[in-house]
Amino acid sequence: MPLQEILLHKMANFRLSSKKEVVQAQEAAMQNPEMFWSSYAKESFHWFTPWDRVLDYDFHKAKVSWFEGGKVNITVNCLDRYAQTKPNARAIVWEPNNPEDEGIVYTYAELLCAVNKMANTLKQQGVSKGDRVCLYLPMIPELAIAVLACARIGAIHSVVFAGFSAQALAARINDASCSLVICSDGANRGSKVLDLKSIVDEALQSCDCVSHVLVVKYVGLDSHWVEGRDIDLKPLLTNASDVCEAEVMDAEDPLFILYTSGSTGKPKGMLHTTGGYMTYTAYTFQNVFQYEEGDVYWCTADIGWITGHSYIVYGPLLNGATTLMFEGVPSYPDYGRFWAMIEKYQVNQFYTAPTAIRALAKASDSLVDDYDLSSLKVLGTVGEPINEEAWQWYNKRIGKEKCPIVDTWWQTETGGIMISSIPGSTPSIPTFATQPMPGIQAQLMDDKGQPVQNKEASGKLCIGFPWPSMARTIYGDHQRYIDTYFSAYPGYYFTGDGADRDDEGNYRITGRVDDVIIVSGHNLGTAPIEDAINEHDLIAESAIVGIPHDVKGNALCAFVVCSGDGEQVTLSEVNALISSKVGPIAKLDVLYMVKGLPKTRSGKIMRRILRKVGQGQFTNLGDISTLLNPDVVDSIIQTVRG
Ligand code: WTA
Repeated sequence: MPLQEILLHKMANFRLSSKKEVVQAQEAAMQNPEMFWSSYAKESFHWFTPWDRVLDYDFHKAKVSWFEGGKVNITVNCLDRYAQTKPNARAIVWEPNNPEDEGIVYTYAELLCAVNKMANTLKQQGVSKGDRVCLYLPMIPELAIAVLACARIGAIHSVVFAGFSAQALAARINDASCSLVICSDGANRGSKVLDLKSIVDEALQSCDCVSHVLVVKYVGLDSHWVEGRDIDLKPLLTNASDVCEAEVMDAEDPLFILYTSGSTGKPKGMLHTTGGYMTYTAYTFQNVFQYEEGDVYWCTADIGWITGHSYIVYGPLLNGATTLMFEGVPSYPDYGRFWAMIEKYQVNQFYTAPTAIRALAKASDSLVDDYDLSSLKVLGTVGEPINEEAWQWYNKRIGKEKCPIVDTWWQTETGGIMISSIPGSTPSIPTFATQPMPGIQAQLMDDKGQPVQNKEASGKLCIGFPWPSMARTIYGDHQRYIDTYFSAYPGYYFTGDGADRDDEGNYRITGRVDDVIIVSGHNLGTAPIEDAINEHDLIAESAIVGIPHDVKGNALCAFVVCSGDGEQVTLSEVNALISSKVGPIAKLDVLYMVKGLPKTRSGKIMRRILRKVGQGQFTNLGDISTLLNPDVVDSIIQTVRG
């Protein structure tokens, strides 16, 4: 089929449903990316006004814009059009932590009303277009509704995962100068109730920018209340109008900020804009999950992470899908909970993380066999490399060898899925994310910084051409955006990941090549954890490395140097310190007290050596002659062997 025809014919109801169509789309996107994406964007969404220019970019300056001049509101495309065409279709189905409690269903018509009420409430609080609003909420419907309400009025949401500490929350609120925080009194997490409001209270002691806090009184904790600042959200919502006109946004107006770990202590506020993000999350959701009308789709992520933004909220709703949102955890009341929910809701597409799969695979298989999983059509995984054993278990036990597995590689920075198989069109291969989505130009770089020419190769993974949902900047620090992503390989976006490629062009992600360690699917920068440890009175310095762990993927291993001779610190006291500075998601499994850290002559810690020793590898440590203090290595080995 000629290019023009594929684009116009397929894009209107754009679904890639055969190998041939995928190849055609790849070719079309390669030959003329602007036509490819503009056809899709034009045919798939409501625009108030068409754009002036499809794409403008300069990777050397890290400048990218898509559909600039186009006027749009993402919530019109998520909500209004479906509220008109299928008002009673289910948009969000919410399942509470406790399976005995009643869930909530929002139809498209109801969700639109709920979002409008929240949007009007935000307006009453003085929030307007461009203002930053911090959401620190558990996985309750108010979180999804608040995200969409911000988008409705053009406010920029900054969701902070409700597992971060007060200090981490404060850093994020201040970085974006949020004027308003929405939180709940607390959160249910399995059998525990967490007090969130006191974390917010503590955080706000160091945030002058926040004028009001809207509190969802949810778990019924008797929270401390700051008069004039804290406001009970529910009565405001009850009284608010359920009609709220969508703000007219430029395609390049910011939609949200979401923080991710970096190699320095300061988190990076990735800024995503409206039109490109909308286009790409809708496109990838449709094709990667092969969602069909009437299906029930479930992504187990938290909306506090990018996976929740793109594939619980925006991607599914842009496609008019039914998206299941779960408050709880996989282990409560037991490890059969996910399977019970798949049966209960007849889930068709299920998207989770390797760490969850590994934990579930360790539990008794009878917990799986108790439930009917025959509704499943597609299984997905994201967040870290999936090992062969976990992949095989997922395929056999859960998918019964009839559900394609999509191993989706992407990042907070990329906004949407970049490398994945496409069910029904391209094969799943264990431990391989497989092929770049049509429209994504992946490249491997060699040690000299040049693109690898051979098909079969290993290298650093880069992307050579803009795609619509890429982050536009690091909020407030464009230079850091350039330095982190566009400097190592000029003219390319550098992902920070290493990858192998086979002779058919399938990619297998091997892991981070920078100072980020992925633990249970959470990106943790070494720097903020080391900073926290170094605050201990008796600790002079520290270094964190990742060591393999059979459930978490990686575990954190610390090497610490005490300030005086003979001083002792315990793992639990150091963990308590990290928990208070970073949050309970970061915990050390192992701590070694050592006499010194291996350093280069320029004073950089040689993590490569610590990583090997931490994993129990005591020989072949590579060249250590360049170290300032090579003798320290032996003493570290003795300690670890200890
Ligand atoms: C890793 C999550 C292997 C990778 C969407 C990436 C993966 C980082 C995969 C981004 C995968 C994500 N296979 N590794 N399928 N998916 N990663 O920003 O190292 O939380 O750079 O985004 O997770 O994590 P982030």
